[in-house]
Amino acid sequence: MARRKFIVGTNFKMNGSRAFLQDLVENLNRADLDSNVGNEEVHPIFISPPSLYIEHVRQNLRKDIAVGGQNCFWKSSGAFTGEISAEMLKDVGADYVILGHTERRTLFKESDTDIGLKVVHALQTGLKVIACIGETLSERESNTTLQVLFRQLQAIIDHVQNLDLNQEEKWKDLVIAYEPVWAIGTGRVAAPEQAQEVHAAIRRRVGEICGLEVAETVRIIYGGSVNLGNALQLARERDVDGLFVGGASLRPEFVQIYMGAGRGEGYRTWYLLFKDILRNLDIPSSTASMFNLPVPRPHSAEGFVSQVGP
Ligand code: PGA
Repeated sequence: MARRKFIVGTNFKMNGSRAFLQDLVENLNRADLDSNVGNEEVHPIFISPPSLYIEHVRQNLRKDIAVGGQNCFWKSSGAFTGEISAEMLKDVGADYVILGHTERRTLFKESDTDIGLKVVHALQTGLKVIACIGETLSERESNTTLQVLFRQLQAIIDHVQNLDLNQEEKWKDLVIAYEPVWAIGTGRVAAPEQAQEVHAAIRRRVGEICGLEVAETVRIIYGGSVNLGNALQLARERDVDGLFVGGASLRPEFVQIYMGAGRGEGYRTWYLLFKDILRNLDIPSSTASMFNLPVPRPHSAEGFVSQVGP
């Protein structure tokens, strides 16, 4: 059975400007990433700027980092004012798209069916899809977490299973992102065991509906207040196949999260890699302060290691 490729993605949401993204791209271009990081076959990573900037970012960003959109519609073209299509994302160089994010579900009233339709259209267009599901705090507190997640999942699965493709083709470009709503942007991250428990339940559910092979190969990534301090513990969980980073992706630590989230390489290897990256990183505080982000602190590789264990 194929090993699941650990993937790290970011969601910049409606943040940034040309100047901000240019700084960020230059920093990424300068970072001394390990050759496996960003290798689509081993350890893919992607960044998702607002769609308006995708083309600029794609043209200027190193090619081992993919670029994604944050949303797209389920039609190719037509009278849908304000929407963009999966085809348009591809046309400007995106390889990924995030669909079903909780902000789309709640603020823009996207239904489970809307998301199912978007997922299949994007897959048919050749985009890799990050399909998000997650429960609110009150749903968790009323013990309906799995009920909610399975409902959201079912709508995605129903649409995907209808595709006229074999199981492997249907699922190879689809990543499920478990993003507990109570953890998004709150600084309240799910405990690694909590994430593991839910990821395992999602995988079991996928297995019941789509079979063991799909369950074993589909990637389930975690998002919600991921940062440098918690990325490693989350990444080590058996069913956590990647990380999805919002707020921290706009801060200097995102490069280290990319590097640190690869599994099975051991703290020691990471420590050595980080030492190099930290030495090479040079993020101007003006970039951070422009967007009210924490001003970068002087990094300490020793500090990182003591923060995450062993
Ligand atoms: P956060 O956002 O990392 O800022 O919590 C995650 C997301 O919205 O995908």
